Amino acid sequence: MSADRIDGKAFAATVRMKVAEHVARIKEGGITPGLAVVLVGEDPASEVYVRNKGKQTLEVGMNSYEHKLPADTPEAEVLALIERLNNDPMVHGILCQLPVPDHIDDAKVINAIAPEKDVDGFHISNVGLLATGQKSMVPCTPLGCLMMLRDRHGSLSGLNAVVVGRSNIVGKPMAALLLKDSCTVTIAHSRTKDIEAVCKQADIVVAAVGRAEMINADWIKAGATVIDVGINRIAAPERGEGKMRLVGDVDYASAAEVAGAITPVPGGVGPMTIACLLANTVTACCRANGLPEPEGLTA
Ligand code: GUN
Repeated sequence: MSADRIDGKAFAATVRMKVAEHVARIKEGGITPGLAVVLVGEDPASEVYVRNKGKQTLEVGMNSYEHKLPADTPEAEVLALIERLNNDPMVHGILCQLPVPDHIDDAKVINAIAPEKDVDGFHISNVGLLATGQKSMVPCTPLGCLMMLRDRHGSLSGLNAVVVGRSNIVGKPMAALLLKDSCTVTIAHSRTKDIEAVCKQADIVVAAVGRAEMINADWIKAGATVIDVGINRIAAPERGEGKMRLVGDVDYASAAEVAGAITPVPGGVGPMTIACLLANTVTACCRANGLPEPEGLTA
């Protein structure tokens, strides 16, 4: 058997198109959704992410506000900027790119963002709202995974879902979202006993552990849907000396022999994260202005 390949790049393009359509409708009423991104320091990977976020924000017709601060910016200054953005009616979404330099407390910065503008869904009140099944801003990567799963299965009700990994950014919110969609949810992690057998029970496996190609065909039930959130850089001597390649937490070639559907790395979950950030920004803008929320772009 060979699994269907879930094309995250194409899916993300569809999400961006829906966002752009909704943005155009909102703009007819004289409101332009705006996303502010704060970057402290010069981490090269973060600079690439922030550039891409800014570019895609403009492409869907929203305003993009970039605030790049030097690495030695005092924490109080970052908090003061967040406060200004909280009070700026042109700004509907605020994101502080992580990681921040060591002298800044990331939790303090995240929790300084107004919860209704917290398009990352990392604020403690959004975490609490999601955990209790209430309307919240939902972290972008899990939201992207959920969209792909709903697209594949329609209703997720009653399905056995195993989330491998217990991070605050992916594992825990993913489990909460699957539970809200009435899955039977297990969170597996490094201390889980017989993790292979646990995964083999699953109709849905979401892999978010950060260990290259840890999950293979032996872990997967025939026909299961496998969502691979991992992005791991490994040596690729076959491409030449010192060359690297990206792989997920799932051994794609092996797992695809057994699964019903699977996301590749790259080109699976990755492109969905920024698309969902744009979706969250348009949702935040609608909620702030009492407008109808975009359909299919929220949890
Ligand atoms: N750094 C890596 N991923 C993310 C993300 O999803 N949000 C923020 N704010 N920073 C990140």
